[in-house]
Amino acid sequence: MYSVKKIKDDLFWVGANNRRLAMFEGVYSVPYGVAYNSYLLLDDKTVLIDTVDKAVQERYFENVAHVLGGRTLDYIVVQHVEPDHSAALWELTREYPDARIVCSKKILTFIEQFFNFDIRARVDIITESDVLDTGKHKLSFIMAPMVHWPEVMVTYDATDKILFSADAFGCFGALNGALFADEVDFTRDYMDEARRYYTNIVGKYGSQVSALLDKASALPIEMICPLHGFVWREKIGEILSKYVLWSSYTPEEDGVMIAYASVYGNTENAAEILAGKLRDRGVRTVMFDVSVTPASEIIAAAFQWSHMVIASTTYNAGIFVTMEAFVSDLVAHNIQNRTVAVIENGSWAPTSGSLIREMLGSCKNISIIDEGLSITSSLKTPQLQQIDAIAGALIATMPEPAPSAAVAGDGAVPDGIDMSTMFKLSYGLFVLTARDGEKDNGCIINTVIQVTESPLRIALAVNKANFTHDMVLKTGELNVSVLSESAPFSLFKRFGFQSGKEADKFEGSGYTARAANGIRYIPEAVNGVISAGVTEVLDCGTHTLFIAEVTGAFTLSGDKSLTYQYYFDNIKPKPQPRKEQAAGYVCRICGYVYEGDTIPDDFICPLCKHGVADFDKA
Ligand code: FEO
Repeated sequence: MYSVKKIKDDLFWVGANNRRLAMFEGVYSVPYGVAYNSYLLLDDKTVLIDTVDKAVQERYFENVAHVLGGRTLDYIVVQHVEPDHSAALWELTREYPDARIVCSKKILTFIEQFFNFDIRARVDIITESDVLDTGKHKLSFIMAPMVHWPEVMVTYDATDKILFSADAFGCFGALNGALFADEVDFTRDYMDEARRYYTNIVGKYGSQVSALLDKASALPIEMICPLHGFVWREKIGEILSKYVLWSSYTPEEDGVMIAYASVYGNTENAAEILAGKLRDRGVRTVMFDVSVTPASEIIAAAFQWSHMVIASTTYNAGIFVTMEAFVSDLVAHNIQNRTVAVIENGSWAPTSGSLIREMLGSCKNISIIDEGLSITSSLKTPQLQQIDAIAGALIATMPEPAPSAAVAGDGAVPDGIDMSTMFKLSYGLFVLTARDGEKDNGCIINTVIQVTESPLRIALAVNKANFTHDMVLKTGELNVSVLSESAPFSLFKRFGFQSGKEADKFEGSGYTARAANGIRYIPEAVNGVISAGVTEVLDCGTHTLFIAEVTGAFTLSGDKSLTYQYYFDNIKPKPQPRKEQAAGYVCRICGYVYEGDTIPDDFICPLCKHGVADFDKA
């Protein structure tokens, strides 16, 4: 009997779950099962996106036939030829002989490698510039080589803004009746399996995953349909942000992952003592016996945590067998950007430490601390100092813990408002641009945040003294150019220190680029551009808070976004002391001096448009 799920009125999940599989790909344990997803679109033309593993083929055919309800299958889009997604292809073509196979040239090569039927007579080769028009829906294709095999491509439905993401954004675990990630407590119950899936299946190919994320970032995406695990329709940012970290080998959390191999418990003993000392000093730790825990779980933990301790006994003049396999696996998965301590043990001729250092030395940005420990059979009291030294050296490379909340001397929370607290808030810096008829204008703002994901909305606070403010209020359309750390001070002078009422801020800039909404954006020293239309306006006194729905967004570089703090520390020239100044107030933003004993509460800096809160008494 069929078992399908409805995604949209014309889109159905027709995949199947497998809870009897012991080892996915013969390597990875899947104690919670695995889902093989396939999607069937019922447009003027019918389109099946990928197939399933042979083990669940029977149910799959029932599902496809049920959703088709007697209609012809017109297209089979093949995104990935690995047999867990293509095993049913041959029988599918026999069941639906009129179906055209839509794939890239590379995918065709792989299909011909795996199958023996005559595919050439029924294949439509597509490239990234092609669109499959099925009636209401327009499907386009993005090549995603090495996510996870070289032939992989993903599919984008521009009509419903759905990304069919192949293996990307997948997760181990059967679906258990749910289909959408928001139907379960994904963070609590599935994020570990999503991490284990990512790190072990595509962890090696971080740069290729980043390339796919970059391409996908230019698309409005309201739903992600992967080939394993749950469909994302809410909080897509949650999984996207994890992918950004994982693909760049950036640790998710500060803490120490300790992996040890111990034959008689003495190496384990040293690892336990080190873990205790780290915990005593407030550092989070996780521990794994590599002879017991499946390697895929430890690989995932290595990607999660910032620091590693590798502790192994020596065996046959080398690294203990399970640890050697684990470290080899870690290197194969391209682990990077970690700080590592090594502990070795050996009753005679301990060698495991130097061999582990050598293996990890081949990885990028792996910092192995000098402090280490060589145990001869069992730990001795004087060696506790060495464990202290390892703990201290690891902690020294971690960020300072956040200071505890400030309290008054008597332990009471202070009364009143300390305005300096407001400077603890973090801000970015942006160029807000608008167009009114033939007039282009822009100004510097520091308050832009994403408010909601669906609908995708941002909030901007804009000083009413800015002419751009009036233009946005009038036209309801805007662009936000997100400044990167490469922004020069001249850019702030151009857009922040003069008024668009009198000046053409773009004159002589060479900036002519316009986004799809016709409004200019800043094409340099900017890492992303967001176009939006105002939906709500809130009068906040000196400023207006605009709520705006995003109508377009694209990235220009991978450079770091500029923060207010970075601007102050590295870009803004330091205000020069003015000896002749008898009395006055100096603008902390641009150095403008207001001369006088008192400064009016409503004074606005004529250069940078900041209020009195940003002035210091000279
Ligand atoms: Fe789920 Fe790369 O196959």
